[in-house]
Amino acid sequence: MTRILTGIQPSGSLHLGNYFGAMRPMVELQDRGQVFYCLVDLHALTSVRDPNLLRENIRSAAVDSLACGIDPARTIFWRQSHVAAVAELNWILSNVTPMGLLERCHAYKDKVARGLPANHGLFAYPVLMAADILLYDADRIPVGRDQKQHLEVARDIAVKMNEAYGEVFKLPEPDIREDTALVPGLDGQKMSKSYGNTIEIFAGEKALRKKVMGIVTDSSAVEDPKDPANSTIVALYRLVAPPEDVRRMEAEFRAGGVGYGEFKKRLFAAIWQYFAPMRAHREELLRDPGQVDEILRDGAARAREVADGVMARVRAVVGLE
Ligand code: ADP
Ligand code: TRP
Repeated sequence: MTRILTGIQPSGSLHLGNYFGAMRPMVELQDRGQVFYCLVDLHALTSVRDPNLLRENIRSAAVDSLACGIDPARTIFWRQSHVAAVAELNWILSNVTPMGLLERCHAYKDKVARGLPANHGLFAYPVLMAADILLYDADRIPVGRDQKQHLEVARDIAVKMNEAYGEVFKLPEPDIREDTALVPGLDGQKMSKSYGNTIEIFAGEKALRKKVMGIVTDSSAVEDPKDPANSTIVALYRLVAPPEDVRRMEAEFRAGGVGYGEFKKRLFAAIWQYFAPMRAHREELLRDPGQVDEILRDGAARAREVADGVMARVRAVVGLE
């Protein structure tokens, strides 16, 4: 059976980009293979220094994922740090990873340019990500487009291992959806925590409305015709509204006579409604935190079983056993 795996960093609240780029595809894939969904808390150490904040982020990412439909009955859902073998594999992989491969990574360069300390953890981040994937013999990796290069690195590392030691690993395939690969943020750039342009899916009503009303638009007047193809409002509306409502909004954009403020109000209402069932599920989960811990513990035990098998193979080929 195809093994589908992705990782999500517990480094802040889930936003529309995370949901449509990574979370929803994972939820949909739960019936189409054996699904592994990992909260990559070790990766989060590259950007979160405050231990209480990290604990809080881990908890909220777990609750939010379950609220969005990650189903522990069908998916192995666990915390990366709960399967210690990932650190061991990370080290083994490091020894076949050329420096040049990591030096080319845009994500590292971007993060350093934005002020994150240029330390070894940040630099070696893609090796740990390769370990996440290879430790579970994953076939297919659903991610947003920003992770394409990291997946190429994971494949290159698998190839290096195979060249050095024979066929140890299969090569993971990225699964990047064109329609949701790049969800725009408030300023029209890629929505990302690091750009401060996010719309959080579980924001309170007032905060959410404020965010949506803050979407950057051009200076067209109410009566002017507007271009739906270049609008962040329409791009986001397409994700959350029924197709007939989207067609209506597009037509009204072209015709003129409706202002951006009105379109934003409609977008807010559609987002609020889209996430209503998930908000309700989240409220339930928040009432029973013990249940979430239990789910993660059980997920780690199941993940460990798979990892143990792979590690036995890896230790044997490299000569550690
Ligand atoms: P951020 O960029 O906000 O820090 P992460 O790097 O934690 O988000 O991304 C978690 C997952 O969500 C990844 O699979 C990533 O590709 C996806 N993702 C993040 N932002 C977007 C976006 N704007 N459009 C599509 N997918 C996204
Ligand atoms: N690097 C990914 C991100 O920033 C998160 C991640 C870690 C991941 N390990 C992974 C994604 C394994 C897919 C598979 O979003």
